[in-house]
Amino acid sequence: MSGKTYDVFVTRKIVPDGTAVLDNECDYRIWPGPEDGSPDHATILREVKKCRLLLSLLTERIDKAILEANEKLLGVANLAVGFDNIDMETATSLGIPVTNTPEVLTETTADLAWALLMAVARRIPEAHNFTVRGKYKIWGPSLLMGNDVGTGPRGEAKTLGIVGYGRIGQGVHRRASGFGMRVLAYDPWVKEDIDKTEGVEYADLPDLLAESDFVTLHCNLTEETHHLIGKKELLEMKKTAYLINTSRGPVVDEAALVSALKEKKISGAGLDVYEDEPKLAEGLAELENVVLLPHIASASRATRGEMAMMAARNALALLRKEHAPNTVNPQVYETEAYGKRTG
Ligand code: DGY
Repeated sequence: MSGKTYDVFVTRKIVPDGTAVLDNECDYRIWPGPEDGSPDHATILREVKKCRLLLSLLTERIDKAILEANEKLLGVANLAVGFDNIDMETATSLGIPVTNTPEVLTETTADLAWALLMAVARRIPEAHNFTVRGKYKIWGPSLLMGNDVGTGPRGEAKTLGIVGYGRIGQGVHRRASGFGMRVLAYDPWVKEDIDKTEGVEYADLPDLLAESDFVTLHCNLTEETHHLIGKKELLEMKKTAYLINTSRGPVVDEAALVSALKEKKISGAGLDVYEDEPKLAEGLAELENVVLLPHIASASRATRGEMAMMAARNALALLRKEHAPNTVNPQVYETEAYGKRTG
């Protein structure tokens, strides 16, 4: 990449719907590396000095050094609803707006959480492998038995515990309604809203863990939610329960989860995210009672297209020095630091 300055550095290749929004509107560059790689810190540091805006993916750590490197940087448009890859405190203190891509991925992500829940309870990947590996010789009454998600033969409602009752958590609740489930939710930020919502009961975390047949995580990763589910919490869950995580890996202490699964303290887990992504905790991949996916919760063609267009539109708004629609630190626009940057 040359030393010339330009408008937007796109840290990795995005789907064409997104680049089509940028075409003819700004001078942008995409990191030219392979699709299964990402630019190293030194590359981003070099490029941020030459551009006015970063369009980043969740795989890139946008830290203090990067944010401090260009006093004319107009913002960071993150292509994800989560923005824990960005040092928000520094961005805000330096007057740098940060945007994300909310809402467009809600239904797709809730679908995948539900798919994981069904897959692990009914042992679908195991059954698929059994079939394609030629092990299916004869139907059998005890072949690959799993657990009910719906009310089953005795009409017993299962309990779903939703941790984080934001847009995606609510989407999962909607899916549970068709399965006749009792729904509990833990989210101290919206307790009053939960109390007012029909079909869901507020529960503190220990109660939710103790009563749920399925626990599904939909909270942001913050200092408070880091290892929200650790050894103690896993022991509070029912032995017959399943844990589903489509939020962020570090919300769960993954080593503790591996031990709990090995020792059958819980029945199984369906995971789309990992503590040290893309690495898996030792022993996790060898377990039979897990379904593991490579962070694809929002990966429908339509949703990834919408996310890319939204991130690109956010980037263009920031470049025009407008208050971008999906700014996660809107207070930044009133600061002197932002004024200096844009003046
Ligand atoms: C996000 O947007 O934060 C997801 O993890 C990827 O879609």
